[in-house]
Amino acid sequence: MQTYTVALGDRSYPIYIGTGLLSNVELILPHLPQKRVALITNEIVAPLYLEKFRGALEQAGVKVVQVVLPDGEKYKSWATLNTIYDALLASHCERGTSIVALGGGVVGDISGFAAATYQRGVPFIQVPTTLLAQVDSSIGGKTAINHPLGKNMIGAFYQPRVVVSDMQTLLSLPERELKAGLAEIIKHGLIRDESFFSWLEVNIERILAREMDALAHAVFRSCEIKGAVVVSDERELGERALLNFGHTFGHAIENEFGYGTWLHGEAVATGMALACDLSVQMGMLGKSDSDRVCKLLVRAGLPIEVKGVAPERLRALMSVDKKARDGKLHFILLERIGSARIRADVSPSALDRTLAQVF
Ligand SMILES: NC(=O)c1ccc[n+]([C@@H]2O[C@H](COP(=O)([O-])OP(=O)(O)OC[C@H]3O[C@@H](n4cnc5c(N)ncnc54)[C@H](O)[C@@H]3O)[C@@H](O)[C@H]2O)c1
Ligand SMILES: [Zn+2]
Repeated sequence: MQTYTVALGDRSYPIYIGTGLLSNVELILPHLPQKRVALITNEIVAPLYLEKFRGALEQAGVKVVQVVLPDGEKYKSWATLNTIYDALLASHCERGTSIVALGGGVVGDISGFAAATYQRGVPFIQVPTTLLAQVDSSIGGKTAINHPLGKNMIGAFYQPRVVVSDMQTLLSLPERELKAGLAEIIKHGLIRDESFFSWLEVNIERILAREMDALAHAVFRSCEIKGAVVVSDERELGERALLNFGHTFGHAIENEFGYGTWLHGEAVATGMALACDLSVQMGMLGKSDSDRVCKLLVRAGLPIEVKGVAPERLRALMSVDKKARDGKLHFILLERIGSARIRADVSPSALDRTLAQVF
């Protein structure tokens, strides 16, 4: 088992990464003010892991109230949040009752927001079971639900007390979900660490084959990279925006095709390919580096092209993206593999060249 500590002063917390950790509740017990938890999961994860995890907690003397949500992004909603509050109130959960999220990013985000708001805040614990949740959504304390007018529009910054990432849960993850999580891992190498990117080039097949040690290293290094960015800029006033590499294009793709058609990681992969091309157009990145990125994305089974949408349409969607501040489009671009920069001075002609090339 490896441990990465997110160093946020008195809100610091450990992320434990290893295999078989679901039954190792010793990692969680020290963080519970009361031997009582509300365990939130969904209908897909429950039959896979709930009994094992719940059993381990109960064996350690922890009382468990369980809440099983329907599966899917569309349930990251106000209505679902209310059913969580209903369950917490009906079973008299108190301020010392911890909320534990067992599942992917959807369960993590909505449970985190419930924890941030129930009785003005109760302890929160993340047990992420998708690759995306382990390398991205469980780190950094962003919690949210969706609003009909926008994704993640209602939420809070609320850090967990501990994160437990069990690599064994990834064995049941659908292939497409695994690859989508891999996109964010590749992103971490691209924005911060060329040697990690090189490691991914060597080990991509081992990750796709779900070799535990390869997965654990990829998750651990991602936690280190995202954790360091979060620690330097918890509320996304500056550097944390670098984590949005590939996302300006990616959100436009998700918006155009409707959330759920493309998985987020797939849209981000294509977005990263476009952002690399734009970095080349801006004279920041060498063409050979951009090719190197695309090659790894393809080997990871991720898309790097988008069809069936006009470049003008994507440009329009990008300008309503939340990264469009002061009327200017902000792009995260690469100056080399391992180093990203925020640029607000992308010329319309450079953007046109990128969009025209890729479609
Ligand atoms: N808070 C953040 O900083 C942050 C960052 C990135 C993404 N997100 C959010 O995360 C969400 C996406 O997360 P996700 O990709 O994990 O999606 P998800 O939670 O929908 O999980 C994907 C699918 O896998 C299933 N699943 C979960 N664990 C499984 C397992 N071990 N075996 C088999 N199936 C399993 C889920 O039930 C679901 O059907 C989005 O709502 C996004 O906005 C948040
Ligand atoms: Zn993302």
